[in-house]
Amino acid sequence: MASWQRTHTCGSLRETHIGQTVTLNGWVNTFRAYNDQIFLDLRDRYGITQVVVEADQPEIFKLAAEARSEWVLSISGQVRERIIDGKQKHNTKLSTGAIEILASEVRVLNRCPTPPFEVNWVPQENQVFVDAELANEDLRLQYRFLDLRRPTLQRMLMMRHRLNKVIRDNLDVQGFLEMETPLLGRSSPEGARDYLVPSRVSIGSWYALPQSPQLYKQILMVAGYDKYFQIARCLRDEDLRADRQPEFTQLDVEMSFVEQDDIFRVIENLTVDIFKRCLGIDIPLPLPRLKYADVMLKYGSDKPDLRYGLEIVEVTDDFSQPDVAFTAFFEQIQAGGRVRALNAKGALAKLSNKDQKELEDVARRGGAKGLGQAKVRDDQVQAPFWKHLPAAVQESLLKKLDAKPGDLLLFVADKEGTVCQSLGMLRQHLASVLKLYDPNALDYKIAWVCDFPSFIWDDEEKRWAANHHPFTAPMDEDLDKLESDPGSVKAKAYDLIINGYECGGGSIRIHNPDVQSRLFKVLGMSEEQAKSRFGFLLDALKFGAPPHGGIALGLDRWAMMLARTTNIRDVIAFPKNQKARDLMTGAPAPVDAKQKKELGL
Ligand code: AMO
Repeated sequence: MASWQRTHTCGSLRETHIGQTVTLNGWVNTFRAYNDQIFLDLRDRYGITQVVVEADQPEIFKLAAEARSEWVLSISGQVRERIIDGKQKHNTKLSTGAIEILASEVRVLNRCPTPPFEVNWVPQENQVFVDAELANEDLRLQYRFLDLRRPTLQRMLMMRHRLNKVIRDNLDVQGFLEMETPLLGRSSPEGARDYLVPSRVSIGSWYALPQSPQLYKQILMVAGYDKYFQIARCLRDEDLRADRQPEFTQLDVEMSFVEQDDIFRVIENLTVDIFKRCLGIDIPLPLPRLKYADVMLKYGSDKPDLRYGLEIVEVTDDFSQPDVAFTAFFEQIQAGGRVRALNAKGALAKLSNKDQKELEDVARRGGAKGLGQAKVRDDQVQAPFWKHLPAAVQESLLKKLDAKPGDLLLFVADKEGTVCQSLGMLRQHLASVLKLYDPNALDYKIAWVCDFPSFIWDDEEKRWAANHHPFTAPMDEDLDKLESDPGSVKAKAYDLIINGYECGGGSIRIHNPDVQSRLFKVLGMSEEQAKSRFGFLLDALKFGAPPHGGIALGLDRWAMMLARTTNIRDVIAFPKNQKARDLMTGAPAPVDAKQKKELGL
């Protein structure tokens, strides 16, 4: 071992090490220079240790005085207790806070120019994840190697490692095989655009990078590998959001000879293990099972955050009464729309006029044309439309909404989808501004959402589209309505939701080739099209396909949940920005004319 190599990490020294001579390697987190002493906080991914260099050692004192943030140093010296003027001065914010190193050797392993932003992290009393003020994210993504030194990010990525480790351990015990499937393959549609790769040896032909390993895992079931999993990279060329990346990771699972309950059992077992081993908390089983139609009605979303109530109330009947003289809502109802409402309890005292104005913007972002606001005062309800309502309707609304003085009632009248969308968004917005939950608490509300419709109508393309994907089995009792009434067919599909995020989705698959062909037809695919795109699947289904089903968990979102961040880029070492660019390497980038020529482009 070279003399500069570390004997300990920057997070490992405690009072028990006092008196020992040690060597630490790390980056300069902060430095404070005085006439007679220099304090350097040395950082690595294990922690921070304070180093003291004293002036009575002029050679190393001179070296230490030159050192700046992010220089890489090797420090040797004796561990001593932190004492100032004879008094114990332990720093309780650091795990190493009882000790410091009195340096006897300082070696500069590498220098660093002044960084474009501070990597600095502010230790907190309970050692929680808190950064000093962060620089602009694009700058941090450009210098990702510096940003990744932040203890906050390091902890999140270490959490991600733990997540993968627990998954592998747990599924191995549950009897699963980890198997790999190709990256260069054929398009397997999950509703997004493919990333395409041109073939050099078959000019004019293209591989598609996988949107998911969906078809390969189904083929593995046909091949008899009845319990498969893969921690799989998936690629989708879709518009990015705070919880979406073009390249992301799924825990992909498939099982044979199973029904929905069997899949739930495996994933619930895994969920309990993950939360216990990553965060030390117990998740009670079984997880609640909610129906799609119910959650859309109550929460306006198929992935509701269940950490708070704030349920949406159906009031269409009240506004349909013949003596209601409020035409705006009535016209919507006449056109087949709905009227629903939220009661923001106690909001009048908590929200400023500006906040209340913002509510309308949120509703509009959700597609609503407007937002009816009614302020419940001690002696009256203030709203332009209130006086147009008969007393009985007023009374019924107040009762249904459990309205009390100080409450703010919010009404949206529109097409059902728009009402759900806008009130769902308002519900989320209100919960955040009214602080109905603590984003930093270890509070997890996990549930299954089931009974999804099989198809949604694609208004642009004027055809039915698969709600999950085209390989999802319809409910047995709905099979004979497949052609006659696709809109009413329910699917054997389910999502796993955590605190308002869709963290997984799966289904029981079609294993009968005739049903699969019928489904392709409902989606508007001719027999030839189905054969040319999915002939291999239809073939495989003919050669003894077992009943099978599975699920994929979005591991980036799981890591976000465990690390309690709302930014997916925090849990990915090298993420893309909102425009799908890697700001560090500059990808995507132009390629040589020669490369293009070889590919026939
Ligand atoms: P689905 O498309 O629902 O299902 O994806 C499964 C889970 O993957 C996560 N996810 C994403 N995470 C980050 N960025 C994205 N762009 C992104 N897209 C999806 C979500 C989602 O719940 N083959 C099916 C699974 C199956 O049927 O077994 C599939 O891919 O958490």
